[in-house]
Amino acid sequence: MGGQFDGKVALVTGGGSGLGRSSALAFAREGARVVVSDVNMDIGEETVNMIQDANGECILLQADMLEATDIEEMMGKGVDAYGRLDYAFNSAGVGPAKSARIDECSIKDWDRVVNINLRSVFLCMKYELRQMLKQGSGVIVNVASIYGLVGHGGGGSSYTSSKHAVVGLTKTAALEYAKEGIRVNAVCPGYTRTPLIQGLLDNPEKTAEVESWHPMGRLGWPEEISEVVVWLCSDAASFVTGHAMAVDGGYVAQ
Ligand SMILES: NC(=O)c1ccc[n+]([C@@H]2O[C@H](COP(=O)([O-])OP(=O)(O)OC[C@H]3O[C@@H](n4cnc5c(N)ncnc54)[C@H](O)[C@@H]3O)[C@@H](O)[C@H]2O)c1
Repeated sequence: MGGQFDGKVALVTGGGSGLGRSSALAFAREGARVVVSDVNMDIGEETVNMIQDANGECILLQADMLEATDIEEMMGKGVDAYGRLDYAFNSAGVGPAKSARIDECSIKDWDRVVNINLRSVFLCMKYELRQMLKQGSGVIVNVASIYGLVGHGGGGSSYTSSKHAVVGLTKTAALEYAKEGIRVNAVCPGYTRTPLIQGLLDNPEKTAEVESWHPMGRLGWPEEISEVVVWLCSDAASFVTGHAMAVDGGYVAQ
């Protein structure tokens, strides 16, 4: 492998599946050494095998995004292994266990979703930024969602709240570090074909309905999000920071 990220190091959380996996592969394809992190080592191992099969270089580190100490330790091990951190893609995330309007929403599940989708992004950035400050450079891409830009009446208040907050956190980080060589952006995907929405994909009628919500009349593919992540990390995006970029077949343009 070899490309625009030769000699660089990329960290991907949630690297065992979906957007994390496709982005870990994309970083490796561009020449970066990749720290793949996930709570689930089986799927993390699959991503590692895919990268190595394509002659890429990576390591796998376990971290539960609910555990602050896991995140701090994982960041330390990643820097110990590769000596630096140029790009971080904070992709680990979950949806609510059950769609329910606010009056019926489980408090425990609300906390779980917000802690994985939002608190972990704060914690990851805390340690990513410390390393990037030492280097005087770095790029972070957080994953928000179309539901970080618009509301949704479908009973996912925890998800929509967490993703709106990720956009706010991204803008805040961009402003705090803008003069120190560090850029921070978010991608806001529309519905994308990953295991996160397997329940939807298993239901053809519901899938057709959700496709129709997107002006392009289809769902996204993980690679279509990863291409944007790579671009945001690249020098081609050198003046882009604090941006929440919809990658959504036109969903939020409506
Ligand atoms: N797929 C979509 O339609 C879509 C749309 C918009 C935004 N997103 C966001 O993209 C991100 C990635 O989602 P995806 O579609 O790739 O889903 P996915 O389910 O395929 O992957 C999520 C990954 O996060 C990991 N993860 C979950 N809980 C974790 C925890 N506690 N600690 C560490 N890792 C954990 C999982 O093991 C998995 O590898 C999420 O933040 C999601 O909200 C997805």
